[in-house]
Amino acid sequence: MNILIIGSGYVGLVTGTCFAEIGHTVTCLDIDTQKIESLKCGTIPFYEPGLKELVLKNYREGRLIFTNCYKSSVGSSDVIFLAVPTPSRDDGSCDLSYFLQATKTLAAYLQDYTVIVNKSTVPVGTAQMVENLAREIVKEDYSLVEFDVVSNPEFLKEGSAVSDCMSPDRIILGLSSKRAESCLRELYSPITDKGCPLYVMDAASSEMTKYAANAMLATRISFMNELSGLCEKLGANIHKVKVGIGSDKRIGTSFLNAGIGYGGSCFPKDIKALRATAEENGISMPILQAIETVNKSQKKILVSMMREYFKDKGGLEGKTIAVWGLSFKPETDDMREAPSLDIIAELQEEGALLRAYDPISLDSAKKALKNHEGITFCSDVYDTCKEAHAIALITEWAEFAVINLDHVSKKMNGRAFFDGRNVFNKEQMRAKGFHHFGIGIPNHASPLEANTLVLNPTTG
Ligand SMILES: NC(=O)c1ccc[n+]([C@@H]2O[C@H](COP(=O)([O-])OP(=O)(O)OC[C@H]3O[C@@H](n4cnc5c(N)ncnc54)[C@H](O)[C@@H]3O)[C@@H](O)[C@H]2O)c1
Repeated sequence: MNILIIGSGYVGLVTGTCFAEIGHTVTCLDIDTQKIESLKCGTIPFYEPGLKELVLKNYREGRLIFTNCYKSSVGSSDVIFLAVPTPSRDDGSCDLSYFLQATKTLAAYLQDYTVIVNKSTVPVGTAQMVENLAREIVKEDYSLVEFDVVSNPEFLKEGSAVSDCMSPDRIILGLSSKRAESCLRELYSPITDKGCPLYVMDAASSEMTKYAANAMLATRISFMNELSGLCEKLGANIHKVKVGIGSDKRIGTSFLNAGIGYGGSCFPKDIKALRATAEENGISMPILQAIETVNKSQKKILVSMMREYFKDKGGLEGKTIAVWGLSFKPETDDMREAPSLDIIAELQEEGALLRAYDPISLDSAKKALKNHEGITFCSDVYDTCKEAHAIALITEWAEFAVINLDHVSKKMNGRAFFDGRNVFNKEQMRAKGFHHFGIGIPNHASPLEANTLVLNPTTG
């Protein structure tokens, strides 16, 4: 099948490449000319494990094409996916301007029957809006072009996007046309033939499913974060509580790690957009508000702990802090809404001196933090520890869990370790001479079985 993907970012490039890998001919289009030219030269605009190899392979084999041109690519496509940004407006509602602009442009070039698919995360009613808009434009052109609009939300997770796309938990199609359904069933058949369930529903339910999924996952994170404060106060250990409740099949263990809050490009904006939709429709959703409130205060918790620790040691001013991890979660260089941004800003306000490291996202972090002067970016994690009074672990990259703590402590001036992701075992850290502070782990905590690192991110 000939597929056109409009928007070649995290979602568009990954889905387009995976569609090429399962045998379709895919054109990835973007208005960013520089991005397209780099892709043609084999440069991937962001870090995603396994993506580069697949892009190069499918480009070489002629199944993956990159372009800026709607005119030359729309007419020859059987299916067109929209994967453009849908950011938050100032009032929290979803900004559909990129989405509607892309719809208008593509509609002007439609020729034969085409299925237009919304992959971006969009509010309920958008599929209908796209259909109306495209019909207007097609009518203006006096053409008799036939098309259908389908909602097909994307559930991939940055960091495991390629495998999520090749073997998703499910595929959701929101549609009312049998013709569009059979076209998309054929498109997805290499994946559904391997056992992936495909659910067909109306577009409104499909659009809502995406927001509901993200809101549910964010609820779990905020619930565990809220509970972690009480655990600490009462001498209970949130990690043990997680094991205790996660073993209940009705609950499961995913998305139950206490930490310093969720970030990324999806949860924050999608929760806000769902709240805005509820408000527009006069529906009160206090749980959604609570998720955000808890998350905001959770992002401040590490700096509060540090403030408390340094209270009788002259405060944070002039103290050197090693910042471990900058991206919003491991295995990505995405800095959108990363908790590190809030933590760094707060530490700088307190006058702390920062030495930061991230295995992958140093370049994107430098861009995201361009207004924060004075941060020393280190290319080696041990280098951050030079004369540091404390370490703040922000992102649970795997390399931190296997670090040589003796080597770390030799380089430091102090021994405080603020573990924002509960990667380390308090007793083992104590044995190495560190003052370890975790999230929801009381100070007298007894030893856990092993390091508690779970590469099961706290963010979507
Ligand atoms: N990133 C994720 O993990 C993820 C997961 C699931 C769903 N989503 C949703 O997918 C959508 C895209 O997200 P993303 O993270 O891939 O965004 P992104 O910013 O990485 O990529 C979007 C791309 O669209 C391009 N673009 C903008 N307007 C265009 C136009 N008119 N024509 C052609 N290209 C245009 C941009 O230049 C950019 O390259 C959003 O709605 C997001 O909520 C994202």
